[in-house]
Amino acid sequence: MSVKSLGMNKAIFLVSHLQICKLLLESDMYDRLLKKNMSTLENKVVLITGASKGIGAGIAKAMAQAGAKVVVNYLQDKKAADAIVEQIRDADGTALSIQADITHVQEVKRLFQELKNAFGRLDVLVNNAGVYKFEPLELVTASEFNRQFTQNVWGTLLPIQESLNYFDQQGGSIINISSVASVKATPMSVLYTASKSAVDGMTRSLSKELASKKIRVNSILPGPTQTAGNPIEGTDMEGYIVGQTPLGRIGQPQDTSGLAVFLASDEAFWITGQKIVASGGFD
Ligand SMILES: NC(=O)c1ccc[n+]([C@@H]2O[C@H](COP(=O)([O-])OP(=O)(O)OC[C@H]3O[C@@H](n4cnc5c(N)ncnc54)[C@H](OP(=O)(O)O)[C@@H]3O)[C@@H](O)[C@H]2O)c1
Repeated sequence: MSVKSLGMNKAIFLVSHLQICKLLLESDMYDRLLKKNMSTLENKVVLITGASKGIGAGIAKAMAQAGAKVVVNYLQDKKAADAIVEQIRDADGTALSIQADITHVQEVKRLFQELKNAFGRLDVLVNNAGVYKFEPLELVTASEFNRQFTQNVWGTLLPIQESLNYFDQQGGSIINISSVASVKATPMSVLYTASKSAVDGMTRSLSKELASKKIRVNSILPGPTQTAGNPIEGTDMEGYIVGQTPLGRIGQPQDTSGLAVFLASDEAFWITGQKIVASGGFD
């Protein structure tokens, strides 16, 4: 091919692409393409428990970016929760922070009532707030058992129970943030593994029970993720985890956000009762 004909081909290529761009800008096709990608959750109201930091904060930002109105629940760190709300609003999203302990019946009732007062409806509940502690069996105590099961199991069940008063006849999506620890055999994790396995059990059972209300229930099982609660980077665990992770790094909070947005969206309409691992292959 001569240099001259290559130049001509490039010119034809450029002109045809400019014409396509012009057509896209003149029609509403560009808007519709953008909308499809950016507003999957337009008009949906999403509640994320424990969203002031870590994985919950990552999910809150991604849900808002996809067009949802977001409630950022937190326990005590108002400053962190408000900072997430501010980041969402700065990006033209809609969000509100609401303090409530998700293990207390009255506080959970107030949380949902405040959500309804602000946004009028509920479409998606993400049960993210959870605690963990890794220790050998010999050190396990009744109080640590109660702490992990109260927070991880009761603190998931209670918001789901209350949410039934708020989902309308269109139903919705419940996403339980479990852990890869429920499927990957992990030493020093007897309580955490047991509590997250219980969460997955609830996901399975409730997916059957709530299907008639058009409510889908799924679990996301993140792998080890760098968060305020689990600061892995720079510790002895980092090398071990990276070595066991085929994709070759520690997880970051945003690594599970895309999956959460998908499960929240109508595009996941046929998916319920599933546990989906998002761990870079650490499983
Ligand atoms: N990080 C990991 O490696 C990892 C891996 C797999 C699964 N997970 C799961 O992912 C979830 C989030 O973990 P994370 O590491 O992102 O957590 P994190 O950084 O420790 O943040 C915990 C969040 O939960 C909130 N919270 C705690 N107790 C609460 C309560 N009783 N009521 C309401 N909110 C409460 C905290 O609020 P305040 O800020 O107000 O205290 C904070 O927003 C947990 O369920 C965890 O088991 C984590």
